[in-house]
Amino acid sequence: MSNIIIFGAPGSGKGTQSELIIEKYNLRHISTGEVLRDHIARKTELGIVADSYCSRGQLIPDDLMIEILAHTIDNDPLIATRGLILDGFPRTIPQARELNQLFAVRGMKVDYVIGLEVPEDELIQRLLKRGQESGRADDNLETINKRLEVYHNQTLPLRDYYIKEGKYTAIQATGSVNEIFDRIVDVIDA
Ligand code: AP5
Ligand code: MG
Repeated sequence: MSNIIIFGAPGSGKGTQSELIIEKYNLRHISTGEVLRDHIARKTELGIVADSYCSRGQLIPDDLMIEILAHTIDNDPLIATRGLILDGFPRTIPQARELNQLFAVRGMKVDYVIGLEVPEDELIQRLLKRGQESGRADDNLETINKRLEVYHNQTLPLRDYYIKEGKYTAIQATGSVNEIFDRIVDVIDA
């Protein structure tokens, strides 16, 4: 039973690879972006607040995001026995610190971090393509650029944070979805 963080820029394939990982390893999956989009679609009170940040490519405030994550974990009793893949969280150093606390009181820990590394021009192409095909509201060039800027300024420092903790493994996340998945399986099985 492992708790894995899947880490990477917008469009790096966190969601795509998480689907394959949970199927093979029977883990639970929390995508904080999916949780927020569900609230936005249902127009809940939280959804209205979240939309004002997501639509501009900004991060939801840490306190609120941590509260949402704790609630999501506590609502899924299977996480304790099966383990978890966290996709899109943490995204700031304070979130990583809070995650350690939140896990510790639940008898959990971060086992390792899989970092999906993709050149920026490919990230933009992938997200623009999805914007044209299925239309996620934040997949337009202006918001994509903002998301990438926020990623560089607020989220990328976590790469060093987890390297220092000895938990980070970089995956070259270009090529086909299956090729990338094979690289991830090698890391998980090692
Ligand atoms: P979130 O939903 O996490 O979005 P994101 O980080 O911008 O990433 P994406 O979901 O767009 O990309 P992904 O890495 O999952 O890639 P995917 O597999 O989809 O967050 C959205 C927003 O919510 C944030 O901007 C923020 O406002 C808020 N939020 C979320 N978490 C938060 C937190 N912790 N704190 C504060 N705010 C938070 O792939 C992308 C596309 O590429 C797809 O179309 C896919 O089919 C395609 N693709 C995947 N792999 C390949 C491949 N190998 N080759 C070609 N195409 C590929
Ligand atoms: Mg995603």
